[in-house]
Amino acid sequence: MIITNTRTEIEQIHALKPIGFVPTMGALHDGHLQLVKASKDRGLYTVASIFVNPTQFNDPTDFEKYPINHERDIEALKSVGCDAVFIPIVDEVYRKSDDTSKYKHDFGAIERVYEGAHRPGHFEGVGRVVHILFDIVNPEVAFFGEKDFQQLAVIKMLVSMLKMNVEIVGVPTVREKSGLAMSSRNERLTREQKKKATLIFECLTWAKNEFGKQSNNLITVEVAKRFRTDQEWQLEYFDLIDGISFLPAKDDSHSVRAVVAAKLGEIRLIDNMKIK
Ligand code: PAJ
Repeated sequence: MIITNTRTEIEQIHALKPIGFVPTMGALHDGHLQLVKASKDRGLYTVASIFVNPTQFNDPTDFEKYPINHERDIEALKSVGCDAVFIPIVDEVYRKSDDTSKYKHDFGAIERVYEGAHRPGHFEGVGRVVHILFDIVNPEVAFFGEKDFQQLAVIKMLVSMLKMNVEIVGVPTVREKSGLAMSSRNERLTREQKKKATLIFECLTWAKNEFGKQSNNLITVEVAKRFRTDQEWQLEYFDLIDGISFLPAKDDSHSVRAVVAAKLGEIRLIDNMKIK
């Protein structure tokens, strides 16, 4: 596996083979590795990146405490046959000489709801770094997790707005046995909190089951009630939305998604589930 921190080395790879790209912020778990496997399954020369992107963190503590373990990540990537990994420093991604306006994008209404509303500037930062990384890696296909469902929608929008020649593939969420969606932030949960955190999956599956039997409003009210029974939880949102527009789900919505974000103590967790 090629391990590099320079653009030039990654840029040279494109001449060789079609590339499948998996951008990450490291602290890799099976969710990330599933993206690499999906790329390998398509026979693509697979490039992963590990870069904790400062421009997408609205919470400085979250950025500072983001777990970093490159050695372990490199071993994990090797174990699933990843071909190259790009681990740049900040100045390699955000070059002083670059025209910053080229990478600044407005994703419209989607940036102002759910994750966009709760994390101001987050999607602008994600769009910025993914655009830069796409310019460096030049992939044919790029893989993103459904775990970050709104991010996946933003990336699809980026590609269509800029008419980029990149296929975006969404990969289903990988979960712990308990149902808890795998996340690098789970490393910061205590054992007790990890047990409590299954409430998120329980509520998502419950909502899926109740959908159509009672009103969407009653479902969300009931879920909010469950989160209020424990003081350590702070529910930011739980909603049934149209999976395309991200507006509240309507009777004629073709795709419906339950989306949730909640803080357990200091740790912010997000998840979602396809309802229809
Ligand atoms: P990160 O949180 O490291 O996630 C990297 C990729 O792994 C994302 O596409 C994310 O959706 C996916 N992923 C995370 N947990 C997953 C799970 N349990 N199952 C399936 N896929 C999962 O998302 C980012 O980094 C950054 O915003 C990034 C796109 C790299 C831009 O900085």
